[in-house]
Amino acid sequence: MQTSQMQSISSTSIVERYLAFFTGRGHLELPGSPLVIAGSTTSFTIAGMQPLLPYLRGQEMPPSKRLTALQRCLRTVDVDAVGTNERKLTFFHMLGNWSVGDYGKRGVIELALELLRDFGFERHSLWVTTFAGDPTLNLPPDEQTVEEWLRQGFPPERIVSLGVDDNFWTMGGPGPCGPDTEIFYDRGVELGCGKTTCQPGCDCPRFLEIWNLVFIEYDRFPDGSLARLPFLSVDTGMGLERVALLLQGVESVFETDLFLPAVARLTELAPVGVVGNSSVEQRARRIILDHTRSALFVGLEGIIPGRDERNSVLRRLVRRASRQGRILGIDHPFLGELVLLFAQGHSILLTEQERQCLHILPDMLTNEETRFAHVLTTGLKRLDKLIPGEDGLVSGEDLFKLHAEKGFPSDLAAEILAERGLQVDWSGYDRAFEQHREISRVSAERHFQS
Ligand code: ALA
Repeated sequence: MQTSQMQSISSTSIVERYLAFFTGRGHLELPGSPLVIAGSTTSFTIAGMQPLLPYLRGQEMPPSKRLTALQRCLRTVDVDAVGTNERKLTFFHMLGNWSVGDYGKRGVIELALELLRDFGFERHSLWVTTFAGDPTLNLPPDEQTVEEWLRQGFPPERIVSLGVDDNFWTMGGPGPCGPDTEIFYDRGVELGCGKTTCQPGCDCPRFLEIWNLVFIEYDRFPDGSLARLPFLSVDTGMGLERVALLLQGVESVFETDLFLPAVARLTELAPVGVVGNSSVEQRARRIILDHTRSALFVGLEGIIPGRDERNSVLRRLVRRASRQGRILGIDHPFLGELVLLFAQGHSILLTEQERQCLHILPDMLTNEETRFAHVLTTGLKRLDKLIPGEDGLVSGEDLFKLHAEKGFPSDLAAEILAERGLQVDWSGYDRAFEQHREISRVSAERHFQS
């Protein structure tokens, strides 16, 4: 929803204006880090603060106490949610500003409100959430942040306190963390789910989270315990694609300028699922668009599809996208072409060196798609024939055989069955797997003895 005061702004301008705003206020601009950071606890960079960990922990002096950057992030933990709504992406750009022991809650809230006003967001459409505290973790409610929002003139009904799942940010494992306050844009009651409980944090399209301000107070250990850090830092993350959705007045992140060239080509290839919000075809389009874009940025890290950790993420993205292509009636390799169109849509966000490496990506994706095409065709046919047994479950043994004999990924098979409302007998799957392992072991021993 585009408001009267907003003018459509390109994604590039959003980035430039964000970084200029913060560099103009004493922040040092850092180059974004790669998607793969050596020694990181996550396979890919998941947040803009990750490259700054030694500063936030007080282990190294930052080059400035105020920092800003555009960071590429990849989060695949909830890959299944892609396509189900207007905002979920695996790859996204996070704009961030950080205070390493410099300004605190008041300072960051003032800066955030000033920039949002500059972008044209009307104050009365903004809602915020704050941390409600957690007695089991012995964490108090963040009353100071509530006070700051009230001081800025926010009415109490637009300040919502939520628990640890919503408003205590961690890296998903060990690392610097703390309570956060999130800023949401109200896209209008007509986009809401209509439930009386609808408020920021609801899954419907009405409230879109645009900026997360985290107060880094603790370091979390692998056992989940928290230790207070020597000083308070502030870590923020604004999703570029979400802000572009609002400032460009479109319905979903998939309609922003970053996606346009690829969307146009996909529509030529398969003019189905373009409108509407819940069709199988629209989900397919969104998955293809998201996964191909992620494949671009993962591929630019020099990663190729394969079995190992990061390689398997890329392989899974390509295979899922390829399978969704079949839903749209595309039965030839097409991701190589799309990936180049994404590069075109993002060219300003790529380095010169990356632009020079682009030519290797189409073949890489096409090769993976081609290798997988036959497996996919065979597997889809076999899956069509699987029917649930008396227990209402699809045989896990059949699914295992499909994997062992035809190379069809079981996670993809389970996903396809789930789309038809079918569940898998996973204990039967595990038994078949164990049996297979035992047979392979005995056979290997026999070969060894002969
Ligand atoms: N690190 C915070 C986030 O990723 C800002 O949301």
